Amino acid sequence: MHDVSEHRRLTDLSRKLLSTNTANTEDEASLQVRDLREVIRFHEWRYYIANEPLISDFEYDKLFKKLQELENRFPNLLAEDSPTQRVSPDLTEGFPTVQHLTPMLSLENSYNADDLADFDAQVRKLCMIPADRDIEYCIEPKFDGGTIALVYENNALVRGASRGNGIEGEEMTNNIRAMRTIPLKAEFSRYGIVKAELRGEALIRKDVFDKVNAKRGKEGQPLFANPRNAATGAFKVKDSKEVEKRGLEAFIYQLGYAVDANGNDVRVQFPTHDDTIEVLGKLGFKIPIHGFDRIVCKNIAEAIDFCNNWQEKRDTYDYEIDGMVLKVNSFELQEKCGYTSHHPRWAVAFKFRAKQATSKLLNVEFQVGKTGAITPVAKLEPVALAGVMVSSVSLHNEDFISSKDIRIGDTVLVERAGDVIPYIVKPLDELRDGTEIPVVFPKNCPMDDSGSVKLVRAEGEAAWRCPNCICGLQDYQKFVFHCSKDAMDIEGLSKATIERFLNLGWLNTLADLYRLDYHAISKLDGFGEKSAENLRKGIEKAKSNPIHRLLHSLSIHHLGKKASRLIAAEIGHVLELKDWTLEKFTEIKDIGPVVSENIMKYFADEKNISILREMEELGVNLSQTEEDCKAESAAEGPLAGKSILFTGTLTQFSREVAEGKAASAGASIASGVSSKLDILVVGEKAGSKLAKAQKLGTVEILSEAEFLSKIGA
Ligand code: IVH
Repeated sequence: MHDVSEHRRLTDLSRKLLSTNTANTEDEASLQVRDLREVIRFHEWRYYIANEPLISDFEYDKLFKKLQELENRFPNLLAEDSPTQRVSPDLTEGFPTVQHLTPMLSLENSYNADDLADFDAQVRKLCMIPADRDIEYCIEPKFDGGTIALVYENNALVRGASRGNGIEGEEMTNNIRAMRTIPLKAEFSRYGIVKAELRGEALIRKDVFDKVNAKRGKEGQPLFANPRNAATGAFKVKDSKEVEKRGLEAFIYQLGYAVDANGNDVRVQFPTHDDTIEVLGKLGFKIPIHGFDRIVCKNIAEAIDFCNNWQEKRDTYDYEIDGMVLKVNSFELQEKCGYTSHHPRWAVAFKFRAKQATSKLLNVEFQVGKTGAITPVAKLEPVALAGVMVSSVSLHNEDFISSKDIRIGDTVLVERAGDVIPYIVKPLDELRDGTEIPVVFPKNCPMDDSGSVKLVRAEGEAAWRCPNCICGLQDYQKFVFHCSKDAMDIEGLSKATIERFLNLGWLNTLADLYRLDYHAISKLDGFGEKSAENLRKGIEKAKSNPIHRLLHSLSIHHLGKKASRLIAAEIGHVLELKDWTLEKFTEIKDIGPVVSENIMKYFADEKNISILREMEELGVNLSQTEEDCKAESAAEGPLAGKSILFTGTLTQFSREVAEGKAASAGASIASGVSSKLDILVVGEKAGSKLAKAQKLGTVEILSEAEFLSKIGA
C-alpha cells in the first residue's frame, strides 16, 4: 500500500499529531482532520491488513479520539469516508449497534508504586479518610483481550456486545454465545436480579493461541501478531463457529448494572466489589480466583506488593495481562469517589513494565542529525514489544556499540519500558554462530558519496560529527527542528513542505521562514489558498513565542529545552547574549561550560546575529517581559496547580523567599489549612496548622529540605 518513506512520513505525522494540541479554529482543525484521517487509515491498514501495527492501541485510540473530538466541534468537517464514520474503528460491518445499560468507562493508568500511593492519597481525599485509616482494595489482572458486555434478563443471556465507544457497542450475541465460558443461563433471580449487565474480557489462552497460530501457518493463513488480536478478531467474525475454533474464553470483572422487577438497583445487597465477583463465580462465570489472581488488600502497601509480585511473574499466567487493576473494594466509598467522564475515580490500572523481546540485528544505518552528529541506528527484524512493532532502535554512539560489543547478525535483547523509546539491552552472545560482523563506524560522512567529508570526534564527546555539511541535510534538520513542537511549534509546516521549500531555494536561513511568499505557496501543487493561509497563521503565531523557544530552536549544540528556559529567564532580549561571558553563563545553576561555549560561539558569529536581527524585523519576538517568563516556568513547574502553605519557623530561607520559590515552581500560596490545601511545609515549632493538616490526612506534609528537593533546588 505504501513505500517505506511513506511509512516513515505517516509515522512521523502520527507522532506529531499525538503531541500537538487539538486545533481551536476551523482552519487549523481542517488541516488536523485531514492529517488525522490519513494516519488513522494508514494505521488501520497496518493493524488489520498488514498485521504489523506501528503504534500502540493507546496511541491509535488517542488519534481516533482527537479526530472524533474535532468532528464533533466542527461538524462542517464531517465526511462520509472519515474513519470515525464506521460503527467501530475495525473493519467489521453488519453488527448492529446497541446502547450499554450504563456507560463503559476506561481506566486511568499508573506505572509504579509512587503512582499507586498518589492514587490512594486521592481516594483518601475524595472520601475524607485520614491517613491512619486503611482503605481496602480489590485487585485483579488487567486482561489484555477484547472487552465484552453481557446482558441477562430473567436468568437468560439475551445480548452480548463489544465495548464499542463505551456508550454504544456492537451487538454480537451469536459469537458471544459460542464462548463456552459464558453461561447461557444463570440464576440471577437467587439475588433478586431481573436484569443485569456484566463486563468482562474475551481472551485466548496463550497455549491455545500458539496452537491456533501454528495451524494457521500450516494452512498458509496469515499469523496473528498476538493473542489479543486473535481474540478481538475472533469475536467479530461473521461465522460463530470460528469463535469456537479459536477457543475464546471470557473473564468477568464487573457487575455493571443489576435491577429487580421494579427497576431498583439491587447491587446494594453486596457491600463490596469482591462480593459481587464471588457471586458471579457462584453463578457459573469465569472470574479471577480469590487468593491467586484476585485478592483483597487491606491497604495500599499490600496492594503495591501484590502488583509488583505479579509484575515479576506475569509470564507464568496462562493469559496475556498487561497490568493489574486496583478497585476500591467498598461500594460506599466508590460512590464517594465518583467518576470523571473518562474513568471511575475509584479504580486505577497498574501497567506492567514493558516486556523485553529478542530480535535479530539486520543492519546498522548511520543518520545525520541537525548538529551533524552521526547516530547509528539498529535495523531489527520487526518485533512486538508491549503492543508495538519495533524495527528501528537508536544505538546512540560508537561507545555504546563497542561497550556492548553489538554485532550485525546478533540476536539482541530489546526493551521498551513504559512509554520510553525502545533500546538494546545486550546482544545474546551465546547465540552467535561466528557469522556476526562487528559494526564499523564510518570515518566519512555517510551522506557524502565522494568520501571527502571526514567526520570528527571532539575530545570528551561521544558523537562523531560531520563538520561541514555539503549535502544540505543538516540544514534541513535544523529547519525541521526549528519548526518542531519542542521549538517554535509551527503548525502546518511538515517535513515534506520544508524539504520542498528548500529545494525551491526559498529557505536559506531561518529568517527566510518568516518572509515566505504565501501567494507563491498557494499556487504550488497540493497547496491552495486555504493551506497557504493556514501556514501563514501557523508562522504568525510562532512569531510571538516566548524567547526560550526561539533560543532552543537555533540548534545550538547541547542547548536543550531546560537550559534555554534557564538562560531566557536571565535576559530581556536575545541579542544580549552577544555580550555574555563564560562566567556569566556558568553562574546560572545547571549551565555548564560546554554549552556556554557553544552559545558564545553562536553569538560571536556575525552571520547568526544578522539572521536574528532580520527575524526581529520580520516580527519574531526576541524580547520578553518578566511576567512572560514567570508564567511560562510556573505552568510547567514541579508544583504546577498545587496549593501550598508554609508554617512554623523556617530555618533555610525567609518566608518571602520560600513563597517566591513555590510560586515559581507553579504553586499558589494558600491562606490556611483546609481540605483544598495540597502541601504544608513545616519549619521548627510548627503548631496548630500542622495538627490540623495531620488530622485532615489529605495534605502532603513536607520538611524544608523535602520542599527544596521537590522543586529541584
Ligand atoms: S474495570 C469502570 N477490570 O481495561 C471500570 N477493566 O481501560 C473499567 N480491563 O477495556 C473496567 N481487565 O476491558 C476492569 N480487571 C479488569 C480489567 C479491565 C481488563 C480492560 C477493560 C477496558 C480497559 C479499561
